[in-house]
Amino acid sequence: MCLHKLLMTFLVVAVFIINCVLIETNELIDEHDDNINNDGDYMKIVKIENQLSMLVNGTTIATANAIANKALQAWPTVKRAFDLYPETHEMHTITDCMHVATEPGDYVFKKSLSSAQRFSFDKLNENEFNEEGLELKELEDAINVCGLYIIGEPNTLVEITMKHYDVNCNSGGLMAFVDGWELNGEYFPAINDHHRTLEDRLVEFCNNYKRWPHVMNKKFFRSSQNAALLQYRLPTKGSFIANVRFHKITQPCNILVHDISALYNLANYGFKRNCSISALFPAVVQLTNIKVGGKSMRKGKVSYECMQNDDYLEIGGSPGLDSTHMEKSSDICGYAETPGPEQAIFCGVTTARLVSSGRYQNHVSIMIRKADAEDLDLATLVCAF
Ligand SMILES: *[C@@H]1O[C@H](CO)[C@@H](O)[C@H](O)[C@H]1NC(C)=O
Ligand SMILES: *[C@@H]1O[C@H](CO)[C@@H](O)[C@H](O)[C@H]1NC(C)=O
Repeated sequence: MCLHKLLMTFLVVAVFIINCVLIETNELIDEHDDNINNDGDYMKIVKIENQLSMLVNGTTIATANAIANKALQAWPTVKRAFDLYPETHEMHTITDCMHVATEPGDYVFKKSLSSAQRFSFDKLNENEFNEEGLELKELEDAINVCGLYIIGEPNTLVEITMKHYDVNCNSGGLMAFVDGWELNGEYFPAINDHHRTLEDRLVEFCNNYKRWPHVMNKKFFRSSQNAALLQYRLPTKGSFIANVRFHKITQPCNILVHDISALYNLANYGFKRNCSISALFPAVVQLTNIKVGGKSMRKGKVSYECMQNDDYLEIGGSPGLDSTHMEKSSDICGYAETPGPEQAIFCGVTTARLVSSGRYQNHVSIMIRKADAEDLDLATLVCAF
């Protein structure tokens, strides 16, 4: 009875937060639409508004949810376009500091200083050796870390071509490509679950105008999964145009969930590797099909005590993107062709992770949908928010 009350309180708070985020997200999207309609000229000054200058590093899980919601809302309109995986140069203006992209095309960002900003920046430069000024300058620099968060269909990877960038190293400008998503210093896919080291997953670049000649290298990046991030920090001014494309892959390992309700396949294709599916929302998870582990494991049934095995599927949740230390609700192995029970994970991020030794062909089909109030009865895990 008491637990029930506690859960209800939690839910009321959660629903309140989600509503706030949704309202804010809608406002951002509306604003974005207005900008596109009223201002086809992409070379416009992007205002630094409080709302838009959220620190990437200071992102709360609510923001992560907002991103997910934006991605989900944007998705249905573009789904068809992916069938052909075209190269498009349709122009998208980046208006939000955290901008979610689900469509291919050219993403354009331009920042120039307003006279007021220029004045304060000059003042900051004058006071460079003054401790207070330094702190302010650091703060200003930090505040300008923004990101283009790209997400494609589960069986795709993201390709980014930098068609243009004017990001001056000497004034603190910097761009970075991330193979995956980063929020709050946490990564998807988790650092240990990626075949590339974190160092290899991050590529930083900027223009060094002090060096002669000023050659502009055309940059080209590919992610390993359906999620990628382009981060940028432009303390003074600068611009870039990034072309985004999606390519179909045949053996996806890590998948960032892009749909509020869909069936996902997770397989190791015989490899020794760990693959995971993460949804940036509390979710109801149901296995519709499972084949994990050796023959002895597969006497036509499913086992829920598999941690001593080399191959298993673990389901759980975490407050942030990093699933390494997620709280587990269950670990499963064995064999079943009929759908199992549903379970709800009330965490910021819901993850299903397939651990494979490479000795077996493992495969699971998982139905993932957004959890709501009615799913409280199915809760197997509630994270501390
Ligand atoms: C980002 O956040 C993490 C954890 O909150 C912190 O340890 C790290 O120093 C921060 N990084 C920057 C660049 O502020
Ligand atoms: C997969 O995960 C397990 C358990 O978390 C770990 O022991 C193993 O080393 C990982 N395998 C690979 C290839 O990363």
